Amino acid sequence: MQINRELGARLLWMAALAVVSGLNSTAQTAQPVGEAVWQPTHPAVRVGDYAGSASCAQCHISEPEKHRTSEMGSSVTRPAESRFLSEHPSLRFERGPYTYTLQREGGQTTFTASDAHGKISEPLFLAVGSGKVFQAYLIQHGGQYYRIPVDYFTAQGKLGLDTEADPALPASLEAALGKPLTLGDLRGCLRCHSPASVVGDRIDIVSLTPGIGCEACHGPGGKHAAAMEAGKPAGAGIFSPSHLLPQEKSALCNQCHTSASSMKAQNPQGVHGVVSPAYRLEGSRCWNPTDERASCTSCHDPHAALVRDTAAYDDKCISCHAQGTHALAHQPGKTCPVGKRDCAGCHMPKVSVPGSPILFTDHRIRIARAGATYPE
Ligand code: HEC
Ligand code: HEC
Ligand code: HEC
Ligand code: HEC
Ligand code: HEC
Ligand code: HEC
Ligand code: HEC
Repeated sequence: MQINRELGARLLWMAALAVVSGLNSTAQTAQPVGEAVWQPTHPAVRVGDYAGSASCAQCHISEPEKHRTSEMGSSVTRPAESRFLSEHPSLRFERGPYTYTLQREGGQTTFTASDAHGKISEPLFLAVGSGKVFQAYLIQHGGQYYRIPVDYFTAQGKLGLDTEADPALPASLEAALGKPLTLGDLRGCLRCHSPASVVGDRIDIVSLTPGIGCEACHGPGGKHAAAMEAGKPAGAGIFSPSHLLPQEKSALCNQCHTSASSMKAQNPQGVHGVVSPAYRLEGSRCWNPTDERASCTSCHDPHAALVRDTAAYDDKCISCHAQGTHALAHQPGKTCPVGKRDCAGCHMPKVSVPGSPILFTDHRIRIARAGATYPE
């Protein structure tokens, strides 16, 4: 009973992240504003249309510099480039009769599952996740992709059971290799974690840009790079979200960060809706779809790593909330009678979701009183 509940919770958490409109419906399509809006999760172009993030860095300085250390920039890595695997060349995890190891040799990491009767070894195929909290690994075995049953947990500095592993002990060594992924599952991972690695029917993590590169959000940039080199009008040939309306900018993010509509369609129970920032934000009194200050990009620079100091967001709140007795004309929000600093620290509490090791920030900005129940 206990086990089933845990499994149910895990599946719900991952399902919440995985069911996005961009992947399986058109409900969240961003509206064009004078130009076609590029959809990160619909990368149906030719490989040759991409220039690669390195090419952008030849002319643009600030975005590439920040992007290098961002979670999105390193959301998928080739195993040879995973810093966790190179810092920890020998990792081990025991589970019942099974032993799992990740062993690095000559820059390559090999996964081995063994028991008293034998062992199966395969080189890692892909590392998924920047490792803010954890990094997951995929292998190929007998023509089938698997998500191996162990992840690297960054805070602990060691392997732990994968968030998607079957809570029951596997019955055979073959079953102990992890969760089989169909080609559709793999495409799903990559559409969110590494969009430019999927081109038409082709999945290519060797020659294509891994992670959420510049062209994931700006579309293929080969024509733009060539036009700029040829001295064509500045900025030609590239999709620029700066020109979008506030809700369109957010819709771009919400193709991968579960949109409010797709979360609503899942009828989330308890805390499960918190994995969708949009769903929670839109239930907040601060929300205004036409106000730039309430859009995702107002608080988050898509080129940079997440800012983890909550006090650093104060100016975003104060742009709408008066600080003293006199609200400015453009400040629709009231003054706080309690605090002047670290607004988000009190009004955007962190929430844990059963089955997930990630602590999510509740984007339903509100007066969160100690001991009060979580408002669904
Ligand atoms: C040969 C130089 C060059 C290369 C290579 C280049 N750009 Fe640009 N880009 C420019 C210039 C010049 C502008 C116009 C000035 C500006 O906005 O910085 C520009 C503008 C832009 C804009 C704003 C467009 C607008 O309408 O406001 C975006 C977005 C952009 N580039 C993204 C990229 C991406 C992504 C890549 C890599 C695929 C890239 N650029 C490669 C030179 C370049
Ligand atoms: C192509 C899919 C995709 C798009 C589009 C996208 N994101 Fe992300 N984003 C992700 C994934 C996947 C991660 C997790 C990265 C990791 O840690 O591996 C992430 C991580 C983040 C993080 C850091 C989260 C953390 O826990 O550290 C922030 C902040 C963020 N995204 C904001 C945005 C904003 C703002 C936009 C829109 C401008 C956006 N994202 C668009 C897929 C996307
Ligand atoms: C719908 C888009 C989507 C799909 C599909 C998806 N993810 Fe994610 N994933 C995310 C986002 C967004 C985050 C960041 C969560 C947050 O911080 O809010 C994330 C986080 C993660 C993390 C934790 C990253 C870290 O830095 O701690 C791992 C690992 C991960 N995903 C692996 C996978 C794997 C493996 C698959 C495919 C089986 C997959 N994801 C499918 C969007 C997606
Ligand atoms: C997760 C999505 C995402 C990724 C990845 C991304 N961008 Fe952007 N970029 C945006 C958004 C959204 C804007 C508009 C920001 C705004 O208006 O607040 C933008 C704006 C820009 C601009 C225009 C800035 C201006 O002042 O008008 C340039 C140039 C640019 N990006 C270049 C890049 C380069 C180069 C990379 C790769 C290193 C990159 N971007 C990666 C989403 C992204
Ligand atoms: C008013 C400011 C604000 C707005 C608007 C906002 N966020 Fe956040 N977001 C935050 C703060 C504060 C954090 C917590 C940072 C920390 O403590 O690490 C956060 C954290 C995150 C994280 C990291 C995972 C987590 O839950 O902690 C992601 C991903 C994210 N936001 C995505 C989004 C998206 C997508 C949107 C638009 C739908 C959005 N945010 C709108 C302030 C904002
Ligand atoms: C786009 C403008 C805007 C932004 C940005 C904004 N707010 Fe608000 N907020 C409002 C409005 C309007 C209300 C409703 C009037 C009021 O109660 O002040 C509100 C209400 C609130 C409330 C009362 C909620 C309730 O249920 O009674 C709190 C608390 C709050 N905001 C805190 C914040 C914090 C903290 C931030 C930054 C993380 C923030 N707001 C960002 C506009 C905004
Ligand atoms: C120490 C925690 C804390 C901090 C820091 C804090 N608040 Fe508050 N805030 C509260 C509490 C508690 C209330 C409810 C007060 C009451 O009604 O008793 C509140 C109330 C509010 C309200 C509702 C006011 C009304 O009249 O309805 C707004 C708006 C607000 N805060 C915004 C902010 C902003 C903006 C900041 C940062 C400048 C901030 N808060 C910092 C705890 C905090």
